[in-house]
Amino acid sequence: MIDVITTVTAMKAYVKAIKQRGETICLVPTMGYLHAGHLDLMREGKSLADHLIISIFVNPTQFGPNEDLGKYPRDFDRDKRLSEGVGVECIFYPDASEMYPKGYSTYVNVEGITGKLCGIARPTHFRGVTTIVAKLFNIIEPDVSVFGEKDYQQLVVIKRMVGDLNMKVKIIAHPTVREEDGLAMSSRNKFLSPDQRKSALVLSHALIKAKGLVKHGEYDAAKIRQMAIDMISSTPEAVMDYVEIIHPDTLECIESIDSKAVMALAVKVGNTRLIDNMVLK
Ligand code: PAJ
Repeated sequence: MIDVITTVTAMKAYVKAIKQRGETICLVPTMGYLHAGHLDLMREGKSLADHLIISIFVNPTQFGPNEDLGKYPRDFDRDKRLSEGVGVECIFYPDASEMYPKGYSTYVNVEGITGKLCGIARPTHFRGVTTIVAKLFNIIEPDVSVFGEKDYQQLVVIKRMVGDLNMKVKIIAHPTVREEDGLAMSSRNKFLSPDQRKSALVLSHALIKAKGLVKHGEYDAAKIRQMAIDMISSTPEAVMDYVEIIHPDTLECIESIDSKAVMALAVKVGNTRLIDNMVLK
């Protein structure tokens, strides 16, 4: 039977017992409404430590005032069943008042790289992510923690926080898991109507096309970017937020693709904001 723990005190006691036996912990943090991408992270996590703990917490501090916190999909019973199926032993499932009790006033903020890409439209988002992830690391003390490349900027920001604050957890990146037609899996895909679901393919199609252009010798980032912008603007209900070609570590925009480069994009399809990325070179 999977253990479901809802308080910080009980979670710390659970962790203490594991640590006293000299055993290791992998943590996979999530906001629930699990899909095959989350489960893949958990399968990898299972192989990395003696114990696999996941967290399910829809973290209010990473949502802006006009974002979809209230609408964010939830189904704990289903999540519990699915995570049990991949060998999760324990779910940390606190409520918001447990994580942010009255008087809460401490935030972790990574500077610079959080002001780019998603940080432009979501200026307080990464501060919320790093705050909750730092809290989870302090409560669960994982030896290793797995994050998806799907949220590429989030992965880079977490790695920076762990390095800058000398945290001892090891961060493992897991490749993006896609639907058969290429759409990156996301808990938010359920908001898409059948027509919007078709339009949402523009994200992965633009990335694949960009990668193809680079393979055939096109290194001019501006031209590749323009191709993607044109594809998005001719797709029904799709509105570009950003399309950028960036250095994989600094997230700085790149003009010529002569060394490592990642293309990252965010597109609103109807009311649903989707992100995706791909290594171009
Ligand atoms: P959530 O969106 O639930 O994602 C949890 C983890 O699953 C993240 O590491 C994310 O990158 C990864 N993931 C999501 N979709 C994926 C896909 N299609 N392929 C591979 N990995 C995927 O990201 C968050 O929650 C939150 O910001 C969190 C880190 C839990 C902090 O609240």
